[in-house]
Amino acid sequence: MKFKYLGKTKIRLSEIGLGTWKMEGREEEISSIRHSISLGVNLVDTAEMYGNEEAVGMAIRDSDAYIATKVSPNHFRRDLIIKSCKESIKRLGVDSIDLYQLHWPNPNIDIKETMSAMESLVDDGLVGNIGVSNFSLDELIEAQGAMKKYEIASNQIEGSVLVRDHIDELGSYCKKNKITLIAYSPLARGMIYSNSHAKMNAILDEIAKRRNKSISQIALNWLLSVDNLIAIPKASNVRHAIENANASGWNLNAKEISMINRTDDFIRPLSAQIKPVIRFAAPFMGAYTKINKIKSGRHLKSKTARSSKKK
Ligand SMILES: NC(=O)c1ccc[n+]([C@@H]2O[C@H](COP(=O)([O-])OP(=O)(O)OC[C@H]3O[C@@H](n4cnc5c(N)ncnc54)[C@H](OP(=O)(O)O)[C@@H]3O)[C@@H](O)[C@H]2O)c1
Repeated sequence: MKFKYLGKTKIRLSEIGLGTWKMEGREEEISSIRHSISLGVNLVDTAEMYGNEEAVGMAIRDSDAYIATKVSPNHFRRDLIIKSCKESIKRLGVDSIDLYQLHWPNPNIDIKETMSAMESLVDDGLVGNIGVSNFSLDELIEAQGAMKKYEIASNQIEGSVLVRDHIDELGSYCKKNKITLIAYSPLARGMIYSNSHAKMNAILDEIAKRRNKSISQIALNWLLSVDNLIAIPKASNVRHAIENANASGWNLNAKEISMINRTDDFIRPLSAQIKPVIRFAAPFMGAYTKINKIKSGRHLKSKTARSSKKK
C-alpha cells in the first residue's frame, strides 16, 4: 500500500481508502472494513447521512484507521454543526473526528458562519482536520477565504475513468495548494463493468489482461496517477476489499494512462444532478438519514443480541 499526505499535514493516508455508503452493518461488511484495515487501508469514510456511523465506528474500534465523516448541508448553521459533530463522535465511539467534511455546499447558509463553526471544532479538539466535499473550485476558494486559522485539508469529489470533470477542474489548484482530492465513486458505482460503457470497459479489459490485474484495479490505479489523489471505493465484501487494496503498490505506465485518457466514454457527474436541487432538498435530508439509521440499526441490534448471548 502506498500512502499520501493529507493536505499540508504529516498524516499519511493510504491511497486506497474505503467508502461505506449503503453499508448497513451486516457481518460481511464489518469483515470487509476490518480486512481492508489489515491490508493497510487507513482511511474509512462515512457520513451522518449514511446512518451507519455506529456500525463503522464498531468496525474500526481498536485500529489505527483515520475516520472521515461528513455533516449534512441542512446542519450548516453554527449550533447545528456543533451538535452534529458531537453526535457523530458519540455514534462513532471516538474522542474526535480525524477529518470532518461539509457534505455538499449549501447556498442558503453564509459560508463564513459554517467555516467559523468548523474552526471552533478544531479549537475544541473535536475535529483533527477540516475537509469539504462536492465543492467547485470557486466554492473551495471561497470556503478557504472564510477561514481565519486553519486550512482546508481535502475536497471529496466524484472521480473515476468515466467522470473526470472535477479532477480536471480542481487537479492543478489542489496540487499547488496541497489540498488532497478524495475521489468518491471511483468505480463509477459499478458502471465501469457495464455494457453501456463498452468502450471504456474494452480498454480497461485489454490493459487488465496484459497486466494480469482486474478491471477495477486498472480503473483505480489510473486515478492514483493523480499526485494528490486518494480513492475511496466501497467494498461490501472481503473479496472486493482485497482486490481494491491491491490496486495500490504499482503503477500503470504512461502509454496505458494515455490509452485510458484518450477513451471518451463519459457520464455526467452526480453533482450535475444534485447541486441544482440542494437549495430545496436540504430540509428533507433528515428524513433520508433517519431511513438509513433504521436500516443500519437492524443489523446492529441483531449483532448486539448475538454477542450478549455468547456471554
Ligand atoms: N461525498 C459524496 O457526496 C459521496 C457521494 C457518493 C459516494 N461517496 C463515498 O464514496 C464511496 C464509494 O462510492 P460508491 O459507493 O458510490 O461507488 P464505487 O465505490 O464507485 O462503487 C461501488 C460498487 O462497486 C462494487 N465494487 C467494489 N469493489 C469491486 C471490485 N473489486 N470488483 C467489482 N465490483 C466492485 C461494489 O460492490 P459491493 O458493494 O458488493 O462491494 C459497489 O456495487 C461511498 O461508499 C461513499 O463513502 C461520497
